[in-house]
Amino acid sequence: MKKQLLALVATLVVSAGAHAADIKVVVSADQPGPVIHRNIYGQFAEHLGTGIYEGMWVGPESKIPNVRGWRKDVVAALKDLKVPLVRWPGGCFADEYHWRDGIGPRSKRPIKVNTHWGGVPENNAVGTHEFFDLVEQLGAEAYVNANVGTGSPQEAAEWLEYMTGEGNATIVEQRRKNGRDKPFRVHYYALGNETWGCGGNMRPEYYADLYRHWATFLKTPAHNRPQFIASGGNDQDTAWTEALSKSVRHNFDGIAHHAYTFPSGKWETKGAAAGFPESEWVAMLSQVKKIDDTLVKNKAILDKNDPKKKLAIYFDEWGSWYDPEPGSNPGFLVQRNTLRDALLAALHFNVFHAHADRVKMSNIAQMVNVLQAMILTSKDKLVLTPTYHAFKLYTPFQDATSLPVKIENNPTYKVDKFEMPGLSVTAGRGKDGKLWVGLVNANATQAAELDLLLGTNAPKAVKGQVLTAGAMDAQNELGKAPQVLPQPFEAQSANGKLTIKLPAKSVVVVAVEG
Ligand code: AHR
Repeated sequence: MKKQLLALVATLVVSAGAHAADIKVVVSADQPGPVIHRNIYGQFAEHLGTGIYEGMWVGPESKIPNVRGWRKDVVAALKDLKVPLVRWPGGCFADEYHWRDGIGPRSKRPIKVNTHWGGVPENNAVGTHEFFDLVEQLGAEAYVNANVGTGSPQEAAEWLEYMTGEGNATIVEQRRKNGRDKPFRVHYYALGNETWGCGGNMRPEYYADLYRHWATFLKTPAHNRPQFIASGGNDQDTAWTEALSKSVRHNFDGIAHHAYTFPSGKWETKGAAAGFPESEWVAMLSQVKKIDDTLVKNKAILDKNDPKKKLAIYFDEWGSWYDPEPGSNPGFLVQRNTLRDALLAALHFNVFHAHADRVKMSNIAQMVNVLQAMILTSKDKLVLTPTYHAFKLYTPFQDATSLPVKIENNPTYKVDKFEMPGLSVTAGRGKDGKLWVGLVNANATQAAELDLLLGTNAPKAVKGQVLTAGAMDAQNELGKAPQVLPQPFEAQSANGKLTIKLPAKSVVVVAVEG
């Protein structure tokens, strides 16, 4: 009995020790780390479902207001989001895409079947020129993914020449004839996608040899050389990073890694996007730890094989993936987007910032109407998702200088068998000169109170925005009042302390004063 009593007292002391008022977040503003590359906030647009056709591209003849076929409302919302980069045309689609199908007069382009995504017709209305028109309208960089699965080294090399060539080669003249005199600026060029799976079911060593072979023939004018990307591993896999970084030397700037998050953790039955219990909320969010683990493991391999840090990790597909929305074409990957997705995105950002020395780009899957989208459309209407607002809140971190953060007494958040740290925090000195802090309170039911310190001093005030809602699966639906919108947030110091009260299930981004 005495023993039990002692144990109870010990438990009470431990929980009192971890009481919200004792949580301290210490930002070391005098220890600048690597720059958080703006392309960490990159997007992905694949020929999949209504991600491009309908969602963004309606064609110049459409009654929906557009500029040369691209929807004005969607482009305006994406510009507002400061989208830094778009990856195209896939995904699995990339390894069945032949770029010559998408140039020249649209009426003459071949109609194919999108065998990977829903078996629907692909009329190739969006091709190279249309894609570059989109990124130029957005003011974003272009990431083009070449076909390895069903393509050839010649096809991949010629696509690059078509886009970047300057002389009077016939292929360059063809681009001019198709309406583009000036070369396109290709910022990134990848050979293949998921070559371990839909891109050809290869083994890492086989693909590494194939990359060495194909990359030999990728040539551009020196001032228009893209970063060349090899297709890498999935989830916790390190074999691809090992094989590639050990053996490839030429035209090789980074490795594309993928990791999706399903509430169930199982590919076959992923789980529901909305209407879930709290255990599934934490099951989902706690998996972001795996992204961190993946980066730690893959970075260790790069540090061994590439100690001069020439190679980047490009996390070019990530995000939530749920069971398809009932009634939708399962090949279209339509899903709801809720407050949980906004927190999932913010937790990913915080991890990517912490690994900014190697992670130089990431691309959420996908930009419009597919998986964890920024925007959902129906006919001429659109809605901005909670994920859109998380991206918007975090825009001050684009090209910010990362700063170390320590959380003292971070409470554990546990529901059933799932647990994770209750708080996740990131900080950076923005390009605007301001010090920005991003905070996530993952706990779905408990608010958190913390003291913010810059080194040993309390700042004067913080000012920014908070994203939260009443329900875990609150969402913004077409034709209904949005439930998840950023609201102003601020706190002032008092008695030498700056205490921040984070609502349950919230994302907060603030600029720090003083
Ligand atoms: O984003 C959807 C698909 O997920 C991509 O086409 C593929 O690369 C991944 O498996």
